[in-house]
Amino acid sequence: MNPTESPVAEARTDVDTDHVALLMDGLKNTQTATERAAKSTMLTPRFYTTDFKAMDALDVSPVRAEWDRMMAEYEGDNNQDHFKRDAAFGEELKVLMPQLSPELRQEFMDFLISSCTSEFSGCILYNEIRKNVSNPDIKQLMAYMARDESRHAGFINQSLKDFNLGIDLGSLKRVKAYTYFKPKYIFYATYLSEKIGYARYITIFRQLERHPDKRFHPIFRWFERWCNDEFRHGESFALMMRAQPHLLTGLNKLWIRFFILAVYATMYVRDHTRPMLHQAMGLESTEYDYEVFRITSQIARQVFPVEVDIDHPTFRACMARLLAISQANDRAVARGGLVGTLQRGWHAARAFFTFGRLFLVPVKQHALPKDIRLDPVW
Ligand SMILES: [Fe+2]
Ligand SMILES: [Fe+2]
Repeated sequence: MNPTESPVAEARTDVDTDHVALLMDGLKNTQTATERAAKSTMLTPRFYTTDFKAMDALDVSPVRAEWDRMMAEYEGDNNQDHFKRDAAFGEELKVLMPQLSPELRQEFMDFLISSCTSEFSGCILYNEIRKNVSNPDIKQLMAYMARDESRHAGFINQSLKDFNLGIDLGSLKRVKAYTYFKPKYIFYATYLSEKIGYARYITIFRQLERHPDKRFHPIFRWFERWCNDEFRHGESFALMMRAQPHLLTGLNKLWIRFFILAVYATMYVRDHTRPMLHQAMGLESTEYDYEVFRITSQIARQVFPVEVDIDHPTFRACMARLLAISQANDRAVARGGLVGTLQRGWHAARAFFTFGRLFLVPVKQHALPKDIRLDPVW
């Protein structure tokens, strides 16, 4: 494929466009990357499915004015020309790639595979909802978001193909396990993952803007406009939740707390498996993660009435403990046999109790703002 050519056919975004099919047609295969992406563990990105009937019944009229403004932004499609390589991309690759140590290269590949998988996961979920609903508001929104995620996944996969590691998204879609989440959980989890995606990409972009000498791959130059897509996807889930206020009150506040903690803990443990990647960018994994938590928590005040206290000493201690448990668990897996199995059981119990302690850290409560929408100003 010509390096300046986008792998994704120039997207129309009427509701009949199947962005998953377009993306799969444009891309080819390498087995190892696909197998890695297909693996489901606690830490790898998952594929989701949900109750389409409930999605179809969603009524956005309580937020109609903000909804229509947002849909106009999607329609304006200000990133239409963004996910194409520029002339300098190839030159930078030629100069920078031979300078990567094998360890950094490995961590960077891991980062690309897991990012591509989670972009594709969004693409599939949004595309499936689009196909299975007739509610025009939801159908159109899902078509726009699938369009964006398809561009994101395709763009990362092009970079994997430079290393002969392109993911075969067609077979990934077939073989990877799907997790069923009822719509309520999709709203909490997907909102968080979109906003965290924004916070992660913008934190990296700002860091490399300050230290261009640490930009070891050209793809990072794309992150600023890219993360605005993720920000808008998060806004869409914020509006859908604010249109259903019962999702944000009563016992559901416990679910919100659970999802914030689960998503933060997963990210924390996973990021600490890639210390060199952060080091190469002049970041330190723990500081980077707390910056991402800080931005995400600030943004989430638009929709979540509870906020976890990321500076509480118990919160910090539990995050560090979960990381240590996960590392001990990896050693038990490597050891195998009866002893390894017993050790894994013990680590699972410790992780469960540590998460319980994390859950009991007091949260901050606040009233939701009248104006829901935010701008990506970080
Ligand atoms: Fe994305
Ligand atoms: Fe997204």
